Amino acid sequence: MSALPQSSAHKWPQEPGSGRGRSHGTSSTEPFDRWFRYPAGFASDYVAMLLDSLGLAKGTLVDCFAGSGVTGTAARKRGLDFVGIEAHPLVAEVARLKLIPMATPAQVRALSDEIRASAQVMAKVDTKALTAETDLVRRSFDKETLSRLVGLRRLVQDKMAEPAAPYLKWALLGTLRDVADVKVGWPYQRPGVSRKPRYTDPLARLMARAEMIAEDLESLDQDRGAAEMVVGDSRDSQTWAGVTDAASACVASPPYLNNFDYADATRLELYFWGEVRTWADMCREVRSDMLTATTQQSSVGEKASAIAALEAMDDEAARQVLKLVDAIGEVQKSRSRRAKEYDRVAPAYFVAMRQILENLHAHLAPEASVLWLVGDSAPYGVYVDTPRLIGELGVGAGFEFVDDVQLRVRGNRWGSNTDRHKVVLSERLLILRRPA
Ligand SMILES: C[S@@+](CC[C@H](N)C(=O)[O-])C[C@H]1O[C@@H](n2cnc3c(N)ncnc32)[C@H](O)[C@@H]1O
Repeated sequence: MSALPQSSAHKWPQEPGSGRGRSHGTSSTEPFDRWFRYPAGFASDYVAMLLDSLGLAKGTLVDCFAGSGVTGTAARKRGLDFVGIEAHPLVAEVARLKLIPMATPAQVRALSDEIRASAQVMAKVDTKALTAETDLVRRSFDKETLSRLVGLRRLVQDKMAEPAAPYLKWALLGTLRDVADVKVGWPYQRPGVSRKPRYTDPLARLMARAEMIAEDLESLDQDRGAAEMVVGDSRDSQTWAGVTDAASACVASPPYLNNFDYADATRLELYFWGEVRTWADMCREVRSDMLTATTQQSSVGEKASAIAALEAMDDEAARQVLKLVDAIGEVQKSRSRRAKEYDRVAPAYFVAMRQILENLHAHLAPEASVLWLVGDSAPYGVYVDTPRLIGELGVGAGFEFVDDVQLRVRGNRWGSNTDRHKVVLSERLLILRRPA
């Protein structure tokens, strides 16, 4: 039995016609949000509607799964202060550059002119040098394009001491998927499937993107809200140490249970820039602070400690999660083929949600609202009402349940081919409130 009341009659915003929740909406044209298309990113227009529905004139907005900072740009536009926490270091970097300008538009334009001039003299690297690139990078571009991209990367990397260089880095990372000649559609790259590149000249594309960044920086006036980006794990109370304990609201979208692997989704950018070269590097450098939401991240040890934590919680939500874990485990055992270990993901995921909700509760002002966009799921056909369970875990952490609004039906990503279940899944808006 659910511990939550039925939904209230309050009208929360449905998704705008121009875009749907997680399908990016106007993010590719919105200043700042257009710098990089993060597959998990909020639709800018939907976040704008959520913020408008809160009607906050001042205060601090928190996003404990800040990603590329779309909530932050919407908060700034409304004069609100913003604190974002994000575990993926590369994605947190672009959010920080968007929200905390570190160079002037003039500096970005000057460096971009310098790089254009150097590129005209030293346009590309010798194709022999390309053997040093990772397999994914080599397979994503034709040789000529890749030798130009690598040449541009060297020019930008040589300038990393300059304040504008990180902006040129992101202009170049944004260029990668523009000029790739294989399917690099989100969330997964498919280097075996060719496509016509959207743009053919990496230098021209880099320059266009750098100019777009300069224009967006120019559009900022100094009086808008202040922002802070924390790179780290929002499960850990230490990560929240510098965050105000009187934030006005939280607008966020947590990872969906087994939706996709955020580190893998950005492998092309990570590998190209050279921060990460192998899967092992990626697990160590990128994934280490991320909560477990996919089978690739799960482990027997984490399952055991999550089960122990749920048992110790001794509340209705924890008992429901434990029952679901058993039900998923039973289905896995009954399968003739090797099953994915969804029973390891679910307990770790919900324990993480509870920890984050507790941290959030400690950093919100009385009566502050929490708006989380999240979907449900059905591992091997076992229905997991994720938004409802998160709501109940939130009540256990001290929140009041306000509403659980269905936004739309969505496709599922559990199982593949013959494993695909028939359960209809939905995208939902969960609303909680910190009591007065
Ligand atoms: C659905 S995405 C949110 C994207 C964001 N709304 C945006 O507009 O870009 C969920 C994010 O949570 C991040 N994440 C996963 N585990 C985390 C953790 N323990 N602490 C903080 N962020 C985490 C993921 O890296 C991912 O970027």
